[in-house]
Amino acid sequence: MTAEVFDPRALRDAFGAFATGVTVVTASDAAGKPIGFTANSFTSVSLDPPLLLVCLAKSSRNYESMTSAGRFAINVLSETQKDVSNTFARPVEDRFAAVDWRLGRDGCPIFSDVAAWFECSMQDIIEAGDHVILIGRVTAFENSGLNGLGYARGGYFTPRLAGKAVSAAVEGEIRLGAVLEQHGAVFLAGNEALSLPNCTVEGGDPARTLAAYLEQLTGLNVTIGFLYSVYEDKSDGRQNIVYHALASDGAPRQGRFLRPAELAAAKFSSSATADIINRFVLESSIGNFGMYFGDETGGTVHPIAKKDAHS
Ligand SMILES: Cc1cc2nc3c(=O)[nH]c(=O)nc-3n(C[C@H](O)[C@H](O)[C@H](O)COP(=O)(O)O)c2cc1C
Repeated sequence: MTAEVFDPRALRDAFGAFATGVTVVTASDAAGKPIGFTANSFTSVSLDPPLLLVCLAKSSRNYESMTSAGRFAINVLSETQKDVSNTFARPVEDRFAAVDWRLGRDGCPIFSDVAAWFECSMQDIIEAGDHVILIGRVTAFENSGLNGLGYARGGYFTPRLAGKAVSAAVEGEIRLGAVLEQHGAVFLAGNEALSLPNCTVEGGDPARTLAAYLEQLTGLNVTIGFLYSVYEDKSDGRQNIVYHALASDGAPRQGRFLRPAELAAAKFSSSATADIINRFVLESSIGNFGMYFGDETGGTVHPIAKKDAHS
């Protein structure tokens, strides 16, 4: 795409190809109330002096409070903190109820169990289109050594989950499943109790096997994305690896694509499937709030499944 005026969704999707970590930017407002929002636009800038930046949307409800706060903190989320990321990206009444936190030395909220945190003084606020760039000068920081939560193409990823998938694949027969998406709708098989498409595999490259299976099943072109969930099915003790995947346009040979509103009313073949779909619906609704990555057609925020028991 080379036009001067781009399709915003296409541009946002292309920006999303750049894998990042996830942070929550926090501050205390003029009344001393903690404020914070999820941001993946964090970047380290300079070692000497110690500077970092994060971009804040002008549409943010916290815009006034954030830009007038003299200080802010960056909490770099660890891989168990997907829920914290989601809470601070949604219009939740009390976001801070969802996390263990304390005030740092300079008065900014610092979260427990983060990969790292940085407390900063506001060095500069730079105009940048529909965002401003907050430049912070680091006044204190801590690096816990925990793995950071990753984010790319609208989905979270964690090094631990990827490691588990590899060892499950090495250990023996696994069931491969997919949250196969087409413009915000998810592909499901079955009539009464719906299930995610799945196949079993022993050895080989799981992503390649799954892509071939899904293409054969639907007759569509399929691109396998990030891991969505890795869990053991209690009923048969089998390891399940679920990927996020994208389908090309067109009607599937069998099964059907259900939109989030239809998914909310559907019945599923297992609680694990319901869990994954519920999370998908929740994340799509975050998109529907239209704050950042999502849009009215169903959102593009696609998480790894929720429960740590599953990841
Ligand atoms: C993974 C992720 C990254 C985000 N990154 C940013 C960001 O860098 N800057 C921003 O202004 N909003 C970002 N957002 C959106 C805000 O978190 C979201 O709009 C939030 O509701 C803003 O809250 P507020 O309006 O209460 O400030 C991101 C959301 C997600 C899920």
